[in-house]
Amino acid sequence: MERKILLQVKDLNVQIGEQEILSAINLTANKGRILGLIGESGSGKSMLCQAIMQSLPAMAKSTGQILYQNTDLTSVTKERLRDYRGRHISMITQNPLVAFDSNQTIERHFRETIKAHYVMNKKEIRQVAISAMNKVNLPNPEKLLQYYPFQLSGGMLQRVMIALSFAMQPKLYIADEPTTALDTVNQKKILSLFNQIRNNTDAAIIIVTHDLGVIAEIADEVAVMYKGELIEQANVFDFFDAPQHWYTKKLLQSRITF
Ligand SMILES: Nc1ncnc2c1ncn2[C@@H]1O[C@H](COP(=O)(O)OP(=O)(O)OP(=O)(O)O)[C@@H](O)[C@H]1O
Ligand SMILES: [Mg+2]
Repeated sequence: MERKILLQVKDLNVQIGEQEILSAINLTANKGRILGLIGESGSGKSMLCQAIMQSLPAMAKSTGQILYQNTDLTSVTKERLRDYRGRHISMITQNPLVAFDSNQTIERHFRETIKAHYVMNKKEIRQVAISAMNKVNLPNPEKLLQYYPFQLSGGMLQRVMIALSFAMQPKLYIADEPTTALDTVNQKKILSLFNQIRNNTDAAIIIVTHDLGVIAEIADEVAVMYKGELIEQANVFDFFDAPQHWYTKKLLQSRITF
């Protein structure tokens, strides 16, 4: 079993000023598995994603380990961290706007991201970009490449970010509410793409969601956050059939009464 582990978060604590944002988090993401991360708003899901990416706000102080393939990301150099980001670990952020530079076209974003890690010429990058944008159901990708981020809707931008992430073929996807800005058709499309990646590659996928339907549909494992703590991590069957923590029970009950 040990060799299946791709990422291990060990005793992670994050503090901003006086506020304890994350407390003693232990979390494991396995190769070829989808881990659903849930918990109420403000419980620390996005902060945990940022901590894994080593992209916490500057004033955040953290202790603990982020072991990626046995390398502790909290203690590698900035240069090595750049190698890991994008190529190994790719983050789809909750707010797509922050991930884009408003002065650069979508094509430029693909070019810079891909060129940082792969040797490809302009034409090859265009092909990769167009194919990735087709996969996420974006209409007329050739034209979209010429657009600036502000010319796209929130849902389109979110899909461009997902396409950018897929184009990099990372080993670990961290998707922070990747489908919240999408209509049901596109939501289904994206979820089935993650499903394909899980089935056809060795990548580990962490998906943050508020939607228990999404969890039921694609997650293999579930981790539940509550007030900065990770209170439960279980396989998806145990999560629904035998929840351990009172908050998880409450979460599941609220679903049934709806
Ligand atoms: N940049 C920041 N500076 C200081 N505190 C922050 C910052 N961002 C978030 N926080 C605090 O960290 C805690 C966790 O926030 P986080 O964004 O991780 O929640 P979340 O679980 O992702 O919520 P949501 O479901 O609404 O996205 C909150 O108490 C929030 O106020
Ligand atoms: Mg969040």
